[in-house]
Amino acid sequence: MEVKEAIKKRRAFRSLEPVKITKELIEDLAECAQITASCFNNQPWQYIFVHEPKALEQMQEALSQGNEWAHKASMVIVVLGKQEDDCVIHDRVYYRFDIGMATEAMILRATELGLVAHPIAGYSPRKTRAILDIPEDVDVIALVIVGKKSNKINPVLSEKQVENEKERPERKKIKDFVHLNRYGDKK
Ligand SMILES: Cc1cc2nc3c(=O)[nH]c(=O)nc-3n(C[C@H](O)[C@H](O)[C@H](O)COP(=O)(O)O)c2cc1C
Repeated sequence: MEVKEAIKKRRAFRSLEPVKITKELIEDLAECAQITASCFNNQPWQYIFVHEPKALEQMQEALSQGNEWAHKASMVIVVLGKQEDDCVIHDRVYYRFDIGMATEAMILRATELGLVAHPIAGYSPRKTRAILDIPEDVDVIALVIVGKKSNKINPVLSEKQVENEKERPERKKIKDFVHLNRYGDKK
């Protein structure tokens, strides 16, 4: 798949059906993070690939209201990192940027493999930490919900979420975030 095709195909779908999670899949996704660029090649990312049924069930406890659709996850990738593992240049703190790039690489690869990989912020870091034994000094940055897209709309979805299954939520116009040559110039 061309990169642009994967970028366009990626969607935050919420109607999921099970998919088999293999060691090969986890290695494949992890490799995409491994070779991502990072400040000074610091590679600040850490991931927990949660895929055993019992652990997945425990992780349901950590999800916020509105994310019940994620109970159908075949895998939850817990995105972790520490500020001290990456560049801090004056007031510029890079670990979340680098970890975001590595995570997007995994998300695009999952998309290419025909999977849904949906990042979420709606979870309790405190509960996630307790369930998975994550040390206090490691930030729980996001969860990525992995599954296969189901053609049957998940009945737990709100009206708005159902709408978003059918059509990609609207984006800003390119001219509203692109500046040419200097800030504020659009032409
Ligand atoms: C950092 C981040 C947090 C998000 N948190 C949630 C969430 O808690 N629940 C949810 O259903 N979707 C969540 N999303 C998905 C966005 O709602 C979705 O990407 C956006 O609506 C655009 O839709 P699209 O990705 O299908 O184009 C999150 C996405 C990101 C990047």
